[in-house]
Amino acid sequence: MQKISRKLKLSGKSIGFVPTMGFLHEGHLSLVRKSKKTADITVVSIFVNPTQFAPNEDLDKYPRDVKRDKSLLIKEGVDFVFLPREEEIYSADYQTYVEVEKISKHLEGEYRPTHFKGVTTIVTILFNSVNPDFVFFGQKDAQQAAVIKQMIKDLKFDIKIRVCPVVREQDGLAMSSRNTYLSIKERKDALVLSKSLKLADTMIKKGETKSQSIIKEMKELINSVDNATLDYIKVVNADNFEEEQIISKGKKYYILVACRIGNTRLIDNILIKI
Ligand code: PAJ
Repeated sequence: MQKISRKLKLSGKSIGFVPTMGFLHEGHLSLVRKSKKTADITVVSIFVNPTQFAPNEDLDKYPRDVKRDKSLLIKEGVDFVFLPREEEIYSADYQTYVEVEKISKHLEGEYRPTHFKGVTTIVTILFNSVNPDFVFFGQKDAQQAAVIKQMIKDLKFDIKIRVCPVVREQDGLAMSSRNTYLSIKERKDALVLSKSLKLADTMIKKGETKSQSIIKEMKELINSVDNATLDYIKVVNADNFEEEQIISKGKKYYILVACRIGNTRLIDNILIKI
């Protein structure tokens, strides 16, 4: 991969890169399309990264279908699919990790304390392999995108990051490879995440500015679904991911929700600008 990208760079081509864990859906493909529009060459990686899963999480059952992924990517006109083997990434004596200290500690970091360290480590290895000019991440994982932005800035990667909007199913459910875990009943119950965010959006449009009032109503809605167990609802400043009590004009915020539907943990968010 490094040889290929060195050659491309020497020939004056720009490289756009979309890192994924596969089992691709329209959310992933929206990033691919953005890369195709932005850069001369588009590289997509598929690697289910073990270091970002805790021992009690779903690494073993994470859905995989590389054949289908490849054919979807060929249809999109992707130039290279990078499929490293696990032992190429993490050799037996592997011992180097990258950690973003502050914004990776709360929200997802509170419930998945080792997760972002695994993400920033693999993304660094992938950046060093692909050597991209542009990288594309989804707002679906808004905190992940913020952590990667911070890492790019701190470690002086010469890379521009683009964060692309959340792609949803017609009924509002944010697309996710993990949606395949849901039973028919759970699939219906899972709609409560996007519905709670819609409720927040409506409240804000009607003039509500207090985070606590918004969170209270969202909680009530989520708790009305038996199958749903809430991890968190937070209102944060979209730039630094710090919690905000009041939503004020001219600033951007994320409202983020993490919730378990049965045994499946789902996250969703909306970007608020007033
Ligand atoms: P994965 O969950 O496969 O997601 C790959 C990229 O697709 C991420 O940037 C994610 O935010 C984006 N994405 C997923 N669902 C989306 C949706 N509904 N709308 C828009 N974008 C969406 O995120 C990871 O993999 C891994 O942590 C990775 C960065 C590859 C490191 O292992």
